[in-house]
Amino acid sequence: MNTLLLHCRPGFENEVCSEISEHAANLQVAGYAKAKASSACAEFVCTEEGGAERLMQAVRFKSLIFPRQWARGVFIVLPETDRISVLLEHLQDFPVCGSVWLEVLDTNEGKELSNFCKKFEVPLRKALGKAGKLVEQSGKPRLLLTFKSGREVFVGLAEANNSAIWPMGIPRLKFPREAPSRSTLKLEEAWHTFIPREEWDERLNGDMTGVDLGAAPGGWTYQLVKRGMLVTAIDNGPMAQSLMDTGLVQHLMADGFTYKPRQPVDWMVCDIVEKPARNAALLETWIGEGLCREAVVNLKLPMKQRYAEVRKLLDRMEAGFAERRIKVSIACKQLYHDREEVTCHLRRLGK
Ligand SMILES: C[S@@+](CC[C@H](N)C(=O)[O-])C[C@H]1O[C@@H](n2cnc3c(N)ncnc32)[C@H](O)[C@@H]1O
Repeated sequence: MNTLLLHCRPGFENEVCSEISEHAANLQVAGYAKAKASSACAEFVCTEEGGAERLMQAVRFKSLIFPRQWARGVFIVLPETDRISVLLEHLQDFPVCGSVWLEVLDTNEGKELSNFCKKFEVPLRKALGKAGKLVEQSGKPRLLLTFKSGREVFVGLAEANNSAIWPMGIPRLKFPREAPSRSTLKLEEAWHTFIPREEWDERLNGDMTGVDLGAAPGGWTYQLVKRGMLVTAIDNGPMAQSLMDTGLVQHLMADGFTYKPRQPVDWMVCDIVEKPARNAALLETWIGEGLCREAVVNLKLPMKQRYAEVRKLLDRMEAGFAERRIKVSIACKQLYHDREEVTCHLRRLGK
């Protein structure tokens, strides 16, 4: 039970290793991180008893940038037949769980295994229930089974309120046909990730105003408009006519890095592909000068040292806000819909 398995986008295993090792070092949890290139996961092997649990208790999953899912547990080998009995045997030392998710890694092998998992899930649930290992209730840990093959599975645990909100951290969002671009899903995923669902009506509503920097053709503007907001869309490129027809969008052909609203707005979103330091500075200015209350901004990742670079930018922003003596909550995640980028969400707290 002393290994932490962390899922991620294939190609970002080293970032996960750096990130989790930094947390472990800060918390003085002994262990080492390892990962195979393009495996879509990394492991942190704790070398002291209870290390993985201590790490999961001290770190909020939400604060992690690159991991999509995590669980503490152990890899086991399953036989060709009667896998359930062997699994139950291994689960003897596990607590009663409140839910179970069968997961795979985000690789081609993983995709091929999804069908097996679907078929295996029903009999497994039944057997877990019968053995008293699954009592569907909130507050109890979640059993996370990550199948690497039909024969090898990571049997893990995570707190339901301190792990991914979707299996494997992959949202099942439907692309709205009326939206002008697929990027629309990125902003929708950001909202699911950073804003609790019960706060959407208070924080994303029709009494609000927003600015979309680098808006064309309007996938992000579409999300703001869908919540009823009045949006100023900044881009030299054209906006989708369907959005302009709503009467909720004002399109300005201006430079997103120099534009400032006459009145403060509730939301600023920015999807301009630029050097990450420039986008981070823009974000700091908007929140720091009170031009907006909340913001979602994409940061393109550099080629190397991607975790170190993002960390540096986040630390710089934090220091900037401390200097201005304002309180800001800062979150950053590589979303499922992000490729070589991460998404930041900032919210100014207090008056
Ligand atoms: C990735 S696209 C945005 C896609 C958009 N979020 C959507 O969902 O449809 C980036 C946009 O940024 C715009 N852009 C690039 N530099 C800009 C700048 N300095 N000011 C404003 N817009 C800029 C480009 O014209 C492009 O339309």
